[in-house]
Amino acid sequence: MTATIVVGTQWGDEGKGRVVDWLAAQADIVARYAGGDNAGHTVTVGGERFALHLIPSGILYPDTLCVLGAGMVVNPARLIAEIDGLTERGVDASPSRLKLSVGAHLILPYHIALDGAMELQRGKKALGTTRRGIGPAYADKAARAGLRAGMMQDPERFADRVYEAVKAKNAILTGVYGQPALDAEAIAAQFHDYARRLAPYLADVSLLINERLAGGQRLLCEGAQGTLLDLDHGTYPYVTSSSATVGGALTSLGFGPRYVEEVIGVAKAYTTRVGAGPFPTELTDELGDRLRGTGANPWDEYGTTTGRPRRCGWLDAVILRYAARVNGLTGLALTKLDILSGFETVKIAVAYDYRGERLEHFPTEADVLARCRPIYEELPGWSEDLTTARRWEALPPAARRYVERVEALTGVPVRLIGVGPGREQTIVR
Ligand code: GDP
Ligand code: IMO
Ligand code: MG
Repeated sequence: MTATIVVGTQWGDEGKGRVVDWLAAQADIVARYAGGDNAGHTVTVGGERFALHLIPSGILYPDTLCVLGAGMVVNPARLIAEIDGLTERGVDASPSRLKLSVGAHLILPYHIALDGAMELQRGKKALGTTRRGIGPAYADKAARAGLRAGMMQDPERFADRVYEAVKAKNAILTGVYGQPALDAEAIAAQFHDYARRLAPYLADVSLLINERLAGGQRLLCEGAQGTLLDLDHGTYPYVTSSSATVGGALTSLGFGPRYVEEVIGVAKAYTTRVGAGPFPTELTDELGDRLRGTGANPWDEYGTTTGRPRRCGWLDAVILRYAARVNGLTGLALTKLDILSGFETVKIAVAYDYRGERLEHFPTEADVLARCRPIYEELPGWSEDLTTARRWEALPPAARRYVERVEALTGVPVRLIGVGPGREQTIVR
């Protein structure tokens, strides 16, 4: 009767996919609860890399049931491509083990066109979205004008609705944004085919999950994005449009808090961000370049989804304390500790200086955060390669001290440590 919820503690790309892959060995169901294909979750098993955007990372185990929750926005073309890609690589992604909530909202081509047009209009104030149509799709959901996955049960009627929706949005695309109109007929025909293909995957996810939880099965909830990208608790407006924090799992999947046993926050051993917005510990010098890497390694800091270089900086304990509070974390998974090898000293932000005032708590107003300067604690670095360490005792004393300092500064135990992208490169405490 237990559920574990995995959330990102920073600005996304913390390594949630690899942590979920590790934890999924103990789960019967793995459920994605937030976002859409703006996410990119990389899992490396036996030297093979899988980049997942919509399908939960649990799909790489043969027996787990994988679920996409109602809180997600799903681009049907992208979901079908991902199913086909996995199938080609010998991974079973058939309707018997992959379920799509009838309540999930669909991303249509006009959402993508509007995402691009709105970014263009923002000019210098662009948010740096992934241009996957995420914001406009969630906006339609809130405005009660969206198309839901459940509508695909009747492909004919669904195609009519798509046709009407494209026509209505064309007025906005052309009239407000001066963009070309989309071909409503062609899109309706395409979505008719998508509906036929995806209808077998549709399910009442809340019913399915609750029946299985009541039957003693174990649920693992896979977050996307991160706490600071959450629509309510992130650095608004530099956020995504979904509930990436812990509550989003319950809302999206339709089960109650009494089942929740663990909330694991995934934190990178340093901090990264893609897209615009304030980032107190950002390093714009060669130290930042060193953290980012050249792109030669698959784990270097370039986006899984968009290929954009990620902004890099030191670990920020103010952020982690905030994530611990907002999500009620019971444990941390600290990834990419191996990347910090070779730095003479390593720094952790312990508080902020805001116009001469010392802030211990993370300020959620973007304007305030933009004026915060990190107050650092400097720790000795280590030169040893960590990638072959498999036990806590095998880590050099300075690396252990770094992890213990993270625990002391956040009040949350570090339960898992990543020392490389591979499934086996995990240290359990
Ligand atoms: P997610 O969006 O939170 O799932 O994270 P991403 O997959 O977008 O980005 C994390 C990147 O770091 C991926 O390329 C992972 O393969 C890689 N990665 C995860 N954990 C580790 C680790 O402990 N060490 C190293 N070197 N790479 C890791
Ligand atoms: P995973 O699950 C990192 C960022 C975008 C942009 C902002 C809004 O892989 O951690 P959107 O397209 O969602 O409207 O963009 O959010 N963003 C992410 N950054 N990892 C992600 O997902 C992200 N999903 C969205 O870069 O700044
Ligand atoms: Mg990612």
